[in-house]
Amino acid sequence: MRMETMKRTVTCGELRADRAGQTVVLNGWVHRKRDHGGVTFINLRDRYGVTQVVVDTRAGAGAAAPDLGAVAAALRNEYCIAVEGVVRLRPEEAANPSMPTGDVEACASKIAILNRSEPPPFQIDGKTNAGEDLRLAYRYLDMRSESMQRRVKLRSDVSFAAREFMIGQGFYEIETPTFIKPTPEGARDYLVPSRLYAGKFYALPQSPQLYKQLLMAGGFDKYFQIARCYRDEDARGDRQPEFTQIDMEMSFVGRDDVLSVTERLMGRVFMKTLGVALPERFKRLTWEEAQERYGSDKPDLRFGMELRDFAPYVEAGGFQAFKDALAQGGGVKALVARGGAGCSRKRIEELEAHAKIYKAKGVAWMKAAGGAALEGGVAKFFAANAGDIITGLGATAGDLILIVADAKRKVANAALGAVRAKLGKDLSLADPRAFEFVWIVDFPLFEFNEGENRWEAAHHLFSHPKEQCLAILESDPGAVLGDLYDLVLNGCELASGSIRVHDPELQKRIFSVAGIPPEEAERKFGFLTNAFKYGAPPHGGIAAGLDRLVMLMAGETSIKEVIAFPKNSFAASPMDDCPGEVEQKQLDELHLAVRAP
Ligand code: AMO
Repeated sequence: MRMETMKRTVTCGELRADRAGQTVVLNGWVHRKRDHGGVTFINLRDRYGVTQVVVDTRAGAGAAAPDLGAVAAALRNEYCIAVEGVVRLRPEEAANPSMPTGDVEACASKIAILNRSEPPPFQIDGKTNAGEDLRLAYRYLDMRSESMQRRVKLRSDVSFAAREFMIGQGFYEIETPTFIKPTPEGARDYLVPSRLYAGKFYALPQSPQLYKQLLMAGGFDKYFQIARCYRDEDARGDRQPEFTQIDMEMSFVGRDDVLSVTERLMGRVFMKTLGVALPERFKRLTWEEAQERYGSDKPDLRFGMELRDFAPYVEAGGFQAFKDALAQGGGVKALVARGGAGCSRKRIEELEAHAKIYKAKGVAWMKAAGGAALEGGVAKFFAANAGDIITGLGATAGDLILIVADAKRKVANAALGAVRAKLGKDLSLADPRAFEFVWIVDFPLFEFNEGENRWEAAHHLFSHPKEQCLAILESDPGAVLGDLYDLVLNGCELASGSIRVHDPELQKRIFSVAGIPPEEAERKFGFLTNAFKYGAPPHGGIAAGLDRLVMLMAGETSIKEVIAFPKNSFAASPMDDCPGEVEQKQLDELHLAVRAP
């Protein structure tokens, strides 16, 4: 059959009652088929929707191709077909209000099979409980489901809205190379061996960071790119080896300019694609505040349950471990789980095990019993000041108070923050439809790498210290704050950026604090620092993870759900068996030898 004769005149999503009486041609896949003795109902699906097709071969049913009954009988799920038919209103009792096309059906006069299908390995309805690898092995079938189609469309809409906004703001979209000099930014690089330069490698970029800064040196004062990035790190729900950033950089700006463009970008994207209005300005927390109040630099603000300082109650109580933690300069932090007094011992032990992952030695607990009484756990040590604790923490009868003490305040915060996040998930405290953005600003510029006994850049090496910290750069690196910012959405780090260093001397000082000898700095980053010598402008920028953004907008918990062809949890693709082996000839050309695994 020539496609021209049965080319669709309408999609499977568009027929409504006003089209009744018209002859149409539909193309699509058999979603479901039901036989009712002489009448066959076919749900025909394409990316626009589903339309019911009726094949009525009973005597007197009307003009139809002679073989219609036989063709209809041969149809199986996922056959790709073309249907010619007349649109008619469904009898009132047969209308389906849950389908946009549910008032009508197409009464088939002709059906052509465009392609047959083997029985699919799982049901294509988005609700399949097929495992991840099976879904990925047959991704082209998995993506026929309405839910995958909706998410892939959302992603396309989000990219389009972002592009439109950025271009409208005067940004140029500029591509940067994806074969770059290996200069690891934090994660491991993916390497591409060079054929022409034996023993040398290109790296795939972890982000366009260095090139976007060079674009600023090049005078393009507003750059953006929807950029593919590559990082060889262990996969997680919100991480893939290759992913996409909405990346931007601007010259002659300060931090608030970057935050403002990002807020307006998010505002536009959410309004255009979901019809959701975001606040004009997002909340802001300093990194320090975020640690103290939420025990995390990516707090989920869809629920409260903030961490509280328990130190004021320690002295009057009799619990030695808390006193020791404070005496060692550490912290004692508490959180009140509303109505948590019903938690079993086992449940509390689970929370404790979770806190231990974050290096806590344990989690102390007690329950607010009503009035000024505390009971259970460590309550007996606080009988004298139970009333103060209950009032101070704002606890009421039936609440569970969880406490972590540690000689390192950082550990007490992080462990209790992890407990807060776990409780939030386990008790479904967050409204799944809410979008709570928060900026985390003023991060420390350096982190101490205990394994290697040296300071290293917390974000990357090119972030500017806050002006007031320039004097203590070398003398007290741990206290240096940077002009760094992260945008967090519903507890997920969505975007990250900074104002950059543009002064070659300051850049040298930062390399030196991070323990990078001048020769190594010159070898790795000389091309950037050289550019700074030629009047590079002050600049800054940010990059948002497109995959994470769409994941959160779609209410999903894994970015794989919003990537057409993602890798599985082991960085592989079961569909095309990637990564694959190569022939000896190719290895020879690339001057490579593979050691037996
Ligand atoms: P950063 O490394 O924080 O910053 O990355 C920015 C954002 O990219 C997303 N992201 C990822 N998404 C999926 N899979 C991954 N493996 C992955 N890694 C990161 C996150 C993250 O917030 N060049 C700097 C940005 C800048 O300073 O302008 C950078 O890449 O959403």
